[in-house]
Parts: sequence; C-alpha cells; structure tokens
Amino acid sequence: MSKTIIVSNRLPLKLSLDGDKITATPSVGGLATGMKSVHTDGDSLWIGWSGLTDDTLTTTQKEKVAEKIRQENCAAVALTQQEVDDFYLGFSNKTLWPLFHYFLEYAKFEKDQWETYQRVNERFAKVILEHTGEDDIIWVHDYQLLLVPQLVKEQRPKSTIGFFLHIPFPSFEIFRTFPWREEVLQGMLGADLLGFHTYDYERHFLSSVKRILRREVSFNKISYDNREIKVDSFPMGIDYDKFYSSAKQHMDKSLEERSELQQRLDSHKEISGDGSKLILSIDRMDYTKGIPNRIRAFEYFLEKYPEYIEKVRLIMLAVPSRSEVSTYKKLKQETDRLVGRINGKFSTVSWTPIWYYYRSMPFDNLIDLYTSADIALITPVRDGMNLVAKEYVATRVNGDGVLILSEMAGASKEMNEALLINPNNFEEFAATIKKAIEMPLEEQQSRIKILQKRLSRYNVERWANEFMKSLKETQQTKDIFVSK
Ligand code: ADP
Ligand code: G6P
Repeated sequence: MSKTIIVSNRLPLKLSLDGDKITATPSVGGLATGMKSVHTDGDSLWIGWSGLTDDTLTTTQKEKVAEKIRQENCAAVALTQQEVDDFYLGFSNKTLWPLFHYFLEYAKFEKDQWETYQRVNERFAKVILEHTGEDDIIWVHDYQLLLVPQLVKEQRPKSTIGFFLHIPFPSFEIFRTFPWREEVLQGMLGADLLGFHTYDYERHFLSSVKRILRREVSFNKISYDNREIKVDSFPMGIDYDKFYSSAKQHMDKSLEERSELQQRLDSHKEISGDGSKLILSIDRMDYTKGIPNRIRAFEYFLEKYPEYIEKVRLIMLAVPSRSEVSTYKKLKQETDRLVGRINGKFSTVSWTPIWYYYRSMPFDNLIDLYTSADIALITPVRDGMNLVAKEYVATRVNGDGVLILSEMAGASKEMNEALLINPNNFEEFAATIKKAIEMPLEEQQSRIKILQKRLSRYNVERWANEFMKSLKETQQTKDIFVSK
C-alpha cells in the first residue's frame, strides 16, 4: 500500500537537550499546526529536521533523539551547526523569507549560503529516497526545500511529488532580482503538482516560469521536460472542530478551574467596567507581521479617541522566532521600546494599555486568549495565509467578536466578512478599531456566523484531501500517457 511522505524543514516537534534529557515542544507556525492534523489522522511518515545540531551530540544523545523521532512516525535529516547557520538561519531566513515577503532591503545574496542550501536540499532528497518506495506519494513543503522536487524526480522519474508553498510567491518584478532564479524555478518544477495559498501567488509563479524559463504555460499547466505540471491554489484551513470544541470546554470551566492567565484577563473587565474591551494579537515575532506598525497605530487610536483610555487594552502575544537573525533581534528591541514608550505615556494607576508577552504559550493558554478577546487585531504587512485569524473565528462559540484583518494576509481573500484594512493607513486603522469596539452584537454575530460556516467547511482536512486528490489525478494522467 502506498504511504504519504510529508517533507518539511521542521518536524512537528522541536527537540532540545538538557544533559541527556530530551525535551520536545510543538513546533510553532502555520505549516506545523496544519500538517500535524493531517499527520495524526493518516498513515504517513514525516521527514524533517529535529531542531538539534548533529555535530554537537554524543552517541547516546543521538540514539535517544532517533528513538524519540521514530516514536512520532518521523524520520530526521541531520544538520550540523554550520548548516543551520548557512542553510536555515542563512539562505532560508536571510534570503528567501525576506525576498518572498517583499522585504528586498533585508535580502542577502551570499554564494556560500546558496551552496549550503543546495547541499542540504540534496541531503533531504537522499533521506526521502531511502525512506520511500516507487508507489509512495511525496508531499514537500515550503521555501526551505525548493530544490527537493527536482532532486527526487531526477533519481526517481516515476515518483509522484507534490509541493506546497506556505508563504507568498512574489511578483515577477521582485523574483527577477534573485540571482538563482532559474535554479529555484527548475527545482520546484520537479513536482507534478504545485500548490499555493491564493490565486495571486499562483499567477505570480506562472508569470515567472513564462518570463524567466520561457516555458509554455497554458491556463494552469506547464509543459516541462516531457511532463505536464499542474499549478493550483489551495487556501489552507484549520482544524476547526479542535478549536471550536476546546473553546466550548473552556467556557464551561468553573471559576476555580480557570488558569492564572484567564484570571488576569478577567481582571481587566472587572477593573475597566462596562464597555471595556480586550483586543488581541498573536504572532511569531517576525517583521512580516507588522508588530511595530500595529503598536504605533494603537497609539494613534488612543490619541485620536481618548474616550477609550482605561477602557481598551491590547494583549499582544509574540512567540520567539529565529532570534539569532539580526533583523529579528532588532525587531524585538524595537517592539520592547515601543511597548515601554506607549505604556509609559498612557498608563494610569489602574490601567496599562498594552500587555505584552514575549514567549511561547501552551495550547490551553492560546484558547484563554482567543476566547477572552472581544477583538482580534491581525495586521501583517505581508503574510502567506495567517491561520491565527481563522483560529480566532473558530473559538467564538457565542458568535460574538470582531476580526480586524490586514488585506496583505492571504486569509483576507476568503474572509470578506472581517473588517479588512490596509495596515499602513493609520486613519483607517484607528477608525476600524473604533468601529469594531462599537459594532452591535447582531452585526458581530452575523459576520462571525458566515465566517464560521466557511471555515468549518474548508477545514485543514479538506485542504489536504483536495491537494492529495489533485496530486493523485496527475498520477493517473501520467499512467495514461505512459500506456499510450
Ligand atoms: P506563521 O505560519 O507565519 O507563524 P500563522 O498565523 O499561519 O503564521 O500560524 C501560526 C500558528 O502557530 C497558529 O496555528 C498558532 O496557533 C500557532 N501558535 C502560536 N503560538 C503557539 C505556541 N506557543 N505553540 C504552538 N503553536 C502556536
Ligand atoms: C512559517 C513558515 C514555516 C516555518 C514556521 C516557523 O510558518 O512557513 O516553514 O516552519 O514559519 O518558523 P521556523 O523558522 O521556526 O521553522
């Protein structure tokens, strides 16, 4: 029977070592949360990096790590410290991530890092070939592994390979600035099916294939190396039932069962009284998420509408991410400074405008935050999809709540009932916060209801099934082609 092989840079669990003791924490980010639901439900193997550096482990530690990974139905690709520096922190997160998110001024083009990126992609391909048979379906994920499809296809031409990009594919004018643009496109075209979150990303990719590789593209099919490659958009969903039922259970908790965080959140309402509101944002600490911009816009809102001072509070959870990269370090410093400045400027004896958490929180605490928030303020300056926006909606079991969402998030394409804003327009930003605070309950409920219906239907399971169905169809087309 054929297996599904999930391949991504990160495994669903991130390992760390304390002596010989291994600690596993869930990986953060849309890819890991989404694919985890697919992995637990099916008969699949997940290939990826454990988060540890192999050259710093003893033999006993290596054995323990391998055992832990096997238990989770995963297989590891080993990386050395130098590879983590040049492939992961380097080429993946100092070149591809900023470039694909339109932060051209952050993108570094370093030949040594490109060479390590190629070498690590080759290692991933080797591990895939070792763990798979001819009939298995290989599903490769994200920007860290753009060359893997071609590397596997060259070794095993009959294999069925899908590739999904979890971040935006930039417009041709951005992508053409990339020194290794041909190699990367050729790498991706090793797949039989290429999936993107939105139609725009799909279009940008096809345009680059046409203009850079000069390949024939008809509608969403590319003829390449005597193969027909399909390109399509598959907006990723969430595990809707998990978020909805966790929120429901949460609502049934007695006062004594409530977490410390929940009690703190409740205290806001007690102190600020009628009409008080909690506004929530949750992001990885990443410059694409528009965190400083959001804080400045919130400051502008308090200046423009001072009647909300002592009534409205912004709860900001920023989960540490890629903190060794200098652009991320600077972002953390800037965020700390801005939060300090605004809290210093507006705080009163009983009220601080921003509660800021820079840490990872367990799932139950995420649910505490989602269910307590009257408004979710999700305002990335650029984001492939944004699952947090969808998770917030899924937890609104009473149908109340307002989602303010940036037009620059892929999720905005499917969430028209949210209050959509351009995060760079501070007038619109502040006016929309006011509108959200004042929105009548019936309007909140009617918007949330439509969104919930859509999200429960297009959940992560359906997303994965539609991708797999489309990938299997490419397999059948190949068979017909071969038998002719
Ligand atoms: P990105 O993929 O850029 O990080 P998304 O909004 O698509 O952005 O995905 C973030 C995901 O990370 C969400 O599914 C969210 O629930 C999850 N998440 C946030 N904080 C944590 C945490 N502390 N532990 C595990 N997952 C988290
Ligand atoms: C985004 C990317 C993922 C990545 C995640 C967390 O969701 O699309 O590929 O895994 O961020 O980032 P990290 O660098 O910790 O893997």
